[in-house]
Amino acid sequence: MPRYAHYAVRKSPNPALARARLLDYVSAMSLKKIIIHPDPRLKKVCEQVDGISPALRKLATDMLETMYDAPGIGLAAPQVGVLERFFVMDVAGKESAPEPRVLINPRISWVSDEVNVHEEGCLSIPGIYEDVTRPAMVRMQFKDIDGNDQEEEFEDIAATCVQHELDHLDGKLFVDYLSGIKRRMITAKMKKLKKERAREE
Ligand code: NI
Repeated sequence: MPRYAHYAVRKSPNPALARARLLDYVSAMSLKKIIIHPDPRLKKVCEQVDGISPALRKLATDMLETMYDAPGIGLAAPQVGVLERFFVMDVAGKESAPEPRVLINPRISWVSDEVNVHEEGCLSIPGIYEDVTRPAMVRMQFKDIDGNDQEEEFEDIAATCVQHELDHLDGKLFVDYLSGIKRRMITAKMKKLKKERAREE
């Protein structure tokens, strides 16, 4: 059973509907291919999401499954080739119950002066981890998967995650915060990795 399936059950007030939705989720899920840097699709500014369609829900579900499978704590739509402004995340950690989230049309409405340094990685830049400095706390406005407007404050690892994912929607990667030399070395490594993977396919 996918970890996020608990969420589908818990969110629904109708147990029969919840079970039906759960079966629906389990049977319909599929893993997406994650695009590896460098790729022009990872450099694009993504389009606003117009409305919450069944296709978007399905895609978000698939992205959560893909993220858990990787494993990672965040995955943005452009990383699976969809140039729209949303991402999924779960920063609950291995010891806690899963907390799958979908943030649609996110925008930052406030950042703290205080900054934090976190070691970041990215599913589009596998095996690379580097320190990035960002605001320690951010407030973000977004729509949830039910289309409701939300505003929420994030701190610690969640603050890092939402900023990293929002960057993806603006065509920015965490390596863009590093020195030119470091970035070029990482990009060369990823090009090599992509060639190796293409040969294996
Ligand atoms: Ni990333």
